[in-house]
Amino acid sequence: MNICVFGIGYVGLSASICLAKLGHNIICIDKDFKKINNLKNGVIPIFEPKIKELIKENKDKLTFETSLDKNLQNIDIYIIAVGTPTKDNGEVDVKSIYEVIDTIINNATKNSIIINKSTVPIGFNNKLQDYINTKTSLKLDVISNPEFLRQGSAIDDFLNPERIILGYNSDFALKKVLEMYKPMQLKEEQIITTDLNSSEMIKYASNSFLALKISFINEISKLCEKTNANIEQVKKGLMSDSRIGKKFLNCGIGYGGSCFPKDTKALVNIAKNHNIELKTIKSAIEANEAQIDYFLQKILSFYKENISNKTFALLGLAFKPNTNDLREAPSIKLINKLATLGANIIAYDPKARYDKVKQLNNIAQIFDNADCLIIATEWDEFKDIDIKLFKKLKDKVIFDGRNIFKNRNLEEYGLKYFCVGKNE
Ligand code: UDX
Repeated sequence: MNICVFGIGYVGLSASICLAKLGHNIICIDKDFKKINNLKNGVIPIFEPKIKELIKENKDKLTFETSLDKNLQNIDIYIIAVGTPTKDNGEVDVKSIYEVIDTIINNATKNSIIINKSTVPIGFNNKLQDYINTKTSLKLDVISNPEFLRQGSAIDDFLNPERIILGYNSDFALKKVLEMYKPMQLKEEQIITTDLNSSEMIKYASNSFLALKISFINEISKLCEKTNANIEQVKKGLMSDSRIGKKFLNCGIGYGGSCFPKDTKALVNIAKNHNIELKTIKSAIEANEAQIDYFLQKILSFYKENISNKTFALLGLAFKPNTNDLREAPSIKLINKLATLGANIIAYDPKARYDKVKQLNNIAQIFDNADCLIIATEWDEFKDIDIKLFKKLKDKVIFDGRNIFKNRNLEEYGLKYFCVGKNE
């Protein structure tokens, strides 16, 4: 099939590459000239495992453009994957989607379908369909197909999805989208069809529920510290109950990224517009914001509220491992708070770059003049670090925001170790 993908961010790029791998011809469109030019020259705008290799393998099936040219005809499917940021007033900004739709309407030459992967307020795709129907006599049917891939495992998630949600109100559109996914040989139970509104709700509800789980475990971990319980043991007990599940129960310094913070706030706002107060989600947001302050307070208590001129070695900038993305990263919030209190910070991250902090490319060197260590992201590389390096820390103290050294006997090295949810 000839597929045109609009918006070459994480979702758009991963989807394009995977669909090319499945045998389709993909035209990737993004108005960011620099990004497209780089992609044409094999320069990938993000760090994401497997992307580079897959682009190389499928380069004959991938075309990168900044606009939908009249020459690019005969499109079977259009996919929208543009950003839908949250505005200051909490509303979802859908402007970019309308821009794409107008482009499609102005260029389409035959009946086809529009798959919307962008996260949109509940009811939006129905409105979009009405808008399209008033502007063209062609049949351009909208499918809501929210994306659940995670950064750091985007390719594997796209190619091996636990489920594909297809919100639709046209059999023609459903048939076409199933044809597109056919090479994935999905089992029947992996495909969930719904109406458009329910599909949109599934995306917001999924992300909000996961955010809720993280805030829940973070709050329980705080209480573990006060009651001398151990969050790792508590977690084991919780996870053995299949109703609770084994995933998204890692406590830490809070969730970040491009989805959870944005989507939870958007859902609260959508509910507010319907006179519903989503108390659980509101609390999850609040708890997440408080978590970084809680962790900071551990550091301040150790230093008796005075960290001015202390030098902190910091491991991990990205909001999670295996990505170079800094959006809403808890590390950045922590760095800003530490810097305001007069601390010096020397950071190391395998892939992420943050220009407002001193950063070294050699992990061992950040220990040279450091008083203490903070761990903000759980990259595998950090788990394998030579513990002897910690001896260089002048104050012999480690604040582990991701509990990666919880099972190492750091006291043996004369180190004081603080993690989350467990008293040492
Ligand atoms: C998320 C959703 O998982 C994905 O389905 C959706 O498409 C986009 O948003 P992503 O933001 O890439 O994916 O990462 P995810 O692995 O979900 O982690 C989000 C944040 O939660 C990270 O900051 C991570 O560190 C934090 N997290 C995750 C925890 O603090 N504890 C956990 O147990 C899991």
